[in-house]
Amino acid sequence: MRDAFPAAIAGETRRQLMGLKKMHDASLPMSGRMASLPAMLLVKAFNPRRLFGFAKGVFGDMRFLMRTYAPAGVFIKYIEGRLIRSRVIARHVHQVEAFTATTAQLSLSTRWFMDNVSHWLDIFDQYRLSERPGIEALEIGSWEGLSAFFLLNLLPKARITCVDTWEGADEHKAEDSETGLDALTGSEAAFDRNLSRFQGRAEKFKGTSYRYFQSMTDRQRFDLVYVDGSHHCDDVIVDAVKSFEALKVGGLMIFDDYFWCYYPRVIDNPAAAINVFLRLKSGSYRLVSVSQQLVIEKTADRYSN
Ligand SMILES: C[S@@+](CC[C@H](N)C(=O)[O-])C[C@H]1O[C@@H](n2cnc3c(N)ncnc32)[C@H](O)[C@@H]1O
Repeated sequence: MRDAFPAAIAGETRRQLMGLKKMHDASLPMSGRMASLPAMLLVKAFNPRRLFGFAKGVFGDMRFLMRTYAPAGVFIKYIEGRLIRSRVIARHVHQVEAFTATTAQLSLSTRWFMDNVSHWLDIFDQYRLSERPGIEALEIGSWEGLSAFFLLNLLPKARITCVDTWEGADEHKAEDSETGLDALTGSEAAFDRNLSRFQGRAEKFKGTSYRYFQSMTDRQRFDLVYVDGSHHCDDVIVDAVKSFEALKVGGLMIFDDYFWCYYPRVIDNPAAAINVFLRLKSGSYRLVSVSQQLVIEKTADRYSN
């Protein structure tokens, strides 16, 4: 039988999509399929092994949030996100499949971004981004261009500025890197190929984000910023503060890898910097969602009160 979920759909998203497919597959006996999403959640809740796994995951994440000094609001949003995650994935199952199909022609060595697709679709719907003309986006860290490709595909009137050194981050240069040297050296060429169809809508800045922010004019403002460059806290804090400055009031900022813990000292990882930033800017943003990515909406400018 044809696999309805191409290998391109990564990790957890793929597992959850397969669960949903099973739920609706009439060819399976009743015992092998679940009648509805609430039933699935109920089964999950009363399955001791799954419940234990869920509680263990939540406990570990909470501990990580405490160790990185997350503000109280983050804990609440995190729990909310855990409770609605299956529903969000279910809501966008067909769009994710359609997008996956469009990526078949791309040159990609990794598909990290695929795990975020349903989450982004949900946020874009919430903020009606596809109806907004002239969206200006900024991406710090583009790699082979998959996240930029997604944004330009979904928002046909949007433009994006992609900032990258195309030299990789610490984790790509490490000896045990999962990406490998070929992918690293080929990442810029892959980016160019993958975004070539969006001539005039994608601008490329080759250099560190720090250099990009130095080169920016004061008047340049964005509706959406995606922070996914260097994941060391020293760089993340600069990216956060400078991106926030460049974000319009009402604009969205998405931080990737909020729960990522690569550096041995927990406070060297992105969450520690993001949490400091959230505390500094308290009162100037609304927390939209917390999961593997943390999303905020800017509500006030530095000088507005
Ligand atoms: C995780 S990848 C980005 C993935 C991409 N957003 C996606 O989802 O397809 C991180 C990228 O950040 C870039 N990078 C690392 N340090 C940087 C820095 N200081 N300034 C700009 N880009 C950087 C790396 O070269 C790499 O391509």
